[in-house]
Amino acid sequence: MPKELDECKLVGGRTAAEVLRIGDTVRRPIGPHSDFSHALLKLLKEKTFNGAPRFLGIDEKGREVLTFIKGKVPHGEIDWTDDQLIVVVRMLKRFHDATAGSVLAGNQEVVCHNDVAPWNIVLDDTIPVAFIDFDGAEPGSRVDDLAYFLWTFLRLGSDIPADQQARKTRLLCETYGFSDGQALYDALIKQQNKILAEREMLAQEAPDKDSREFSASQAKNIRSEIEWVQSHKTLFESIFRA
Ligand SMILES: Nc1ncnc2c1ncn2[C@@H]1O[C@H](COP(=O)(O)OP(=O)(O)O)[C@@H](O)[C@H]1O
Ligand SMILES: [Mg+2]
Repeated sequence: MPKELDECKLVGGRTAAEVLRIGDTVRRPIGPHSDFSHALLKLLKEKTFNGAPRFLGIDEKGREVLTFIKGKVPHGEIDWTDDQLIVVVRMLKRFHDATAGSVLAGNQEVVCHNDVAPWNIVLDDTIPVAFIDFDGAEPGSRVDDLAYFLWTFLRLGSDIPADQQARKTRLLCETYGFSDGQALYDALIKQQNKILAEREMLAQEAPDKDSREFSASQAKNIRSEIEWVQSHKTLFESIFRA
């Protein structure tokens, strides 16, 4: 069969210009940060962490070649069950443990993925099996990824009642082995503000009008999510005391 027939564009990504599937591989454009993410994927292989694609090399067109992970990447809002969330947070812990003390983590606690969100996870049927999209990975603190994961998976700041969010937050942090409410609150605010700044920049500077409008509306949502977290500061800080 000619190779082209086996190619298909993978949609749903939020940033990479062109992500293709060819057979059992994924081809993605490389960027300034790719050397780091390739070294990370090699480390994860050495450590037998199986919740990430394997890095297979660079193809004749200069694209990175990764293993294709079978399953679905969810796009849109999902009400995750506790069991699914527990699988994700255990995978996050194993990812961090695999990078702790490595050269890549430098003087930081671990390597953070930095975009552990529903749009970067592969589900085999209903079971989360792998993270994808390691482009933003860099040295950092465990709590930074943990806070970002809670924000995006639980949709902190949506109209879901605070007591439900608190229960899940506590369950997931305890499953991870984390119990510092103050650090969790600080990391939530830090991560939200980081993404807000990116969105505000794009709302001004994205090349096309649709992207600017999309980013402006995202920025508005994030501002309201930050307000929600701020108005529940005491809840987060005391979440492990009960
Ligand atoms: N290794 C992989 N295995 C399976 N699907 C993948 C893989 N990498 C990317 N994809 C698919 O391609 C889409 C975009 O890829 P992603 O790496 O998230 O790029 P970005 O979000 O930067 O556009 C994902 O939503 C997913 O559907
Ligand atoms: Mg992605």
